Amino acid sequence: MILSIETSCDETAVAILKDGVVLSSVIASQIKWHKRFGGVVPELASRMHAEKIHGIIQDSLNQASVSLDQLDSIAVTYGPGLEGALLVGIAAAKTLGMSLQKPVIPINHLHGHIYSAFIDAKTPLQFPCICLLVSGGHTMLVLLKDHFDFQLLGSTRDDACGEAFDKVARVMGLSYPGGPIIEKIALEGDASRYDFPRAMKHSPYEFSFSGLKTAVSQLCQSLGDDLEQEKPHVAASFQAAVSDTLVTKAIKACENFNVSQLLVCGGVMANRVLATSFHAQCDVKGISLSVPPLSYCTDNAAMIGMAAHHYLQRFEVPDSFYVTPQLSVESL
Ligand code: KG4
Ligand code: ZN
Repeated sequence: MILSIETSCDETAVAILKDGVVLSSVIASQIKWHKRFGGVVPELASRMHAEKIHGIIQDSLNQASVSLDQLDSIAVTYGPGLEGALLVGIAAAKTLGMSLQKPVIPINHLHGHIYSAFIDAKTPLQFPCICLLVSGGHTMLVLLKDHFDFQLLGSTRDDACGEAFDKVARVMGLSYPGGPIIEKIALEGDASRYDFPRAMKHSPYEFSFSGLKTAVSQLCQSLGDDLEQEKPHVAASFQAAVSDTLVTKAIKACENFNVSQLLVCGGVMANRVLATSFHAQCDVKGISLSVPPLSYCTDNAAMIGMAAHHYLQRFEVPDSFYVTPQLSVESL
């Protein structure tokens, strides 16, 4: 039985897994506290984690009907993420580990997103495969050669994809986080109304979203009072530009590496329009697509527990580890 903790950004999350099955997954989102600042305030995030973590641990145990003495190990995100926020989760995990005399497994948050594909999976992920990880902090294409044997192919040169959704929402006068709001208002819009740039066409695995963000921002300024009625079309056209870029590059990577399976994960993949275009294009190309269940796309602790479940089958738990805010997907 694994208790896993995730506090890398603005979700305080704890989950319990038994033999790779999720018994409980509790998430306390801090969104309403950060909303008024238009983004995550790191100091506030750390304080909120410290306030919530004990209650969330208790809730996850209660929901799983599990007691502390039934736990075999504790898993915790140790990077990448906000240093102060990560430290709260690590301190809680190490305290639990020490008092229960159980090992504490350090988990890379990016591996958590990858292993979210194994939660409730009808068909298990086959290696090698290509992974597109798109979240608020990361946008990358990764070649998954085997369990925990990951090669970074390319990432974003500037904004992460989710960050672009959040910033575009802000220039359109929408709330935080922008992704779900843009998806919602885009439902009423015409995606072909505005032809936004698709950047980094010449580079197979690199991304850039700052030009797209600037193009949307300039359009919003030039629209003036007309922006209000154009918002659905701007949102739909922006979403189409993002979708085009992500789908094209991910499929190209599959073709270049001659793999027939694609995993798309991370908070941005909670976007169902995006998921639908991935499904459509993958069908055309004969690529098998894996998208984690919606509730495991955005940050959660079940994905950290799932990564830990697979970690334990392959590695010794280290005697000690430290918070690592800048951690590559290639690092264990
Ligand atoms: O994976 P995640 O929860 O946190 C990070 O590790 O960053 O991703 C959060 C990001 C935010 O930028 C949010 O706007 C974006 O995911 N997001 C979405 C949607 N839901 C969340 N982006 C587009 N469409 C959505 N439905
Ligand atoms: Zn994340």
